[in-house]
Amino acid sequence: MDYDPVARAAMAVRAHAHAPYSRFQVGAAVEAADGRVFAGCNVENAAYPEGTCAEAGAIAAMVAAGARRIRRVVVCGGTGAACTPCGGCRQKIREFAPLEAEITMISPQGTVLVVHTLADLLPDSFGPGNLA
Ligand code: THU
Repeated sequence: MDYDPVARAAMAVRAHAHAPYSRFQVGAAVEAADGRVFAGCNVENAAYPEGTCAEAGAIAAMVAAGARRIRRVVVCGGTGAACTPCGGCRQKIREFAPLEAEITMISPQGTVLVVHTLADLLPDSFGPGNLA
């Protein structure tokens, strides 16, 4: 994984996670179609439901920078088991990524644990095309 800048970004941003309540630090990075990489970490809150996921932060950074298309996602989190995106984040990714986009889960040390497509993680999904 040392050579993968998206994985490196996910690993690096995880160190900035604000997770004093769960102590479950997550970093995520998205590679936009234009090649830029955007990262985010989970940001918890004393009012627990107000916390946000790492993937949401990475997507927000991408959109704020003017990109709209996700090529792939890397999630680095947790303790050792693969940290797959929560249901809400799967839908957030769906807004900007094709169904064949790869979502790669890595350990905090950068080992690839599992690779899924978005279609695997969110079958029969509702997306922007449903509103057309
Ligand atoms: N979390 C993420 O940031 N991304 C995931 O893919 C799963 C869970 C966060 C939310 C919360 O801050 C902590 O991990 C424990 O659920």
